[in-house]
Amino acid sequence: MGVPAVVAVLAVLLALPARGLENGLARTPPMGWLAWERFRCNVNCREEPRQCISEMLFMEMADRLAEDGWRELGYKYINIDDCWAAKQRDAEGRLVPDPERFPRGIKALADYVHARGLKLGIYGDLGTLTCGGYPGTTLDRIGQDARTFAEWGVDMLKLDGCYSSGKEQAQGYPEMARALNATGRPIVYSCSWPAYQGGLPPKVNYTLLGEICNLWRNYDDIQDSWDSVLSIVDWFFTNQDVLQLAAGPGHWNDPDMLIIGNFGLSYEQSRSQMALWTIMAAPLLMSTDLRTILPSAKEILQNRLMIQINQDPLGIQGRRIIKEKFHIEVFLRPLSQAASALVFFSRRTDMPFHYTTSLAKLGFPEGAIYEVQDVYSGKIIGDLKTGDNFTVIINPSGVVMWYLCPKALLIQQQAGEASRLPRL
Ligand code: GLA
Repeated sequence: MGVPAVVAVLAVLLALPARGLENGLARTPPMGWLAWERFRCNVNCREEPRQCISEMLFMEMADRLAEDGWRELGYKYINIDDCWAAKQRDAEGRLVPDPERFPRGIKALADYVHARGLKLGIYGDLGTLTCGGYPGTTLDRIGQDARTFAEWGVDMLKLDGCYSSGKEQAQGYPEMARALNATGRPIVYSCSWPAYQGGLPPKVNYTLLGEICNLWRNYDDIQDSWDSVLSIVDWFFTNQDVLQLAAGPGHWNDPDMLIIGNFGLSYEQSRSQMALWTIMAAPLLMSTDLRTILPSAKEILQNRLMIQINQDPLGIQGRRIIKEKFHIEVFLRPLSQAASALVFFSRRTDMPFHYTTSLAKLGFPEGAIYEVQDVYSGKIIGDLKTGDNFTVIINPSGVVMWYLCPKALLIQQQAGEASRLPRL
């Protein structure tokens, strides 16, 4: 290309409007910890010093993420939610943390978190106030707040939408994307915008969201109950035709935090939340006390094969493929290398249910053979032909989850591994 041609191409490129975050982040669903569901807006540090929203809470959680095997599995974001700020901005109009609860400031907390190989997230709200009544980011403050977060070394921003109109949100969410870009710091951008607009087209434009946000809350807040989990599951899978297409590397639907380890879910229900969030390619943001979590909850959250499936590089969100009238549902997520994950879910309330089906009935291609592994027990169940009938036993409000790998591919992989062995 001659010089004039290069100049012409550059001119065209520079004239193009900046599209999206261009931050290359969240190629797989973000994983980590978020304070809100478990710790809410507890600012009573005098009476509950270890339960309140303070730098100590985040430092202790960061220690746990770094020391108890979480970080190596991918749980690397430690995220502050609402109620961290002082009630007033400073003399220059900057957001400041509450001086009693964050005496060393957010920059020092970010340094602490980074020194442990983790990343720090923070919370803001596009509007006059946050949902909890702390200073919000009005349209005129967007640039300033983005710069403040970047200067502090923040790696992720959840931007809530309390106390703003639909019109302000339509202007403010894309503007914050541009402001974050302009800081030059890679900051994962989580938008609550769709949740404030009912979560569905035509009010929500998922194409635009995918260009400006890395993840977004589509629907209501999760609470510490099975009812809440079910209402979220119902909404997401009822609307799967719209939502599935919106998700992909760099841009994810967010059905809200994992509440595993808290008070509202039984063991079976905890396994169900983890499996269904994984089928949805959802961010895995735990909101539980990692200092006291029981081994059974930890084991669910630290299941390696589960996390590998959640983090599959293709990033295709799964779907509900069968809803039996006897309250059994089947979910499928396609994975890279022609593998897939299946979840058999029981909404029954009587006893373990024997569900008989075949891969053919679940829409798998004829004539194929799959190696099947149970995700929770880790056991290889064996080879299954598409036409073979099989039976899974599903506990009430529980799941059976399978990882399926096509056999021909397995043989290829093994041959590949063998050829990489050193020759003697
Ligand atoms: C909203 C959000 C929650 C949480 C609270 C904080 O309700 O949806 O996730 O951030 O605000 O006040």
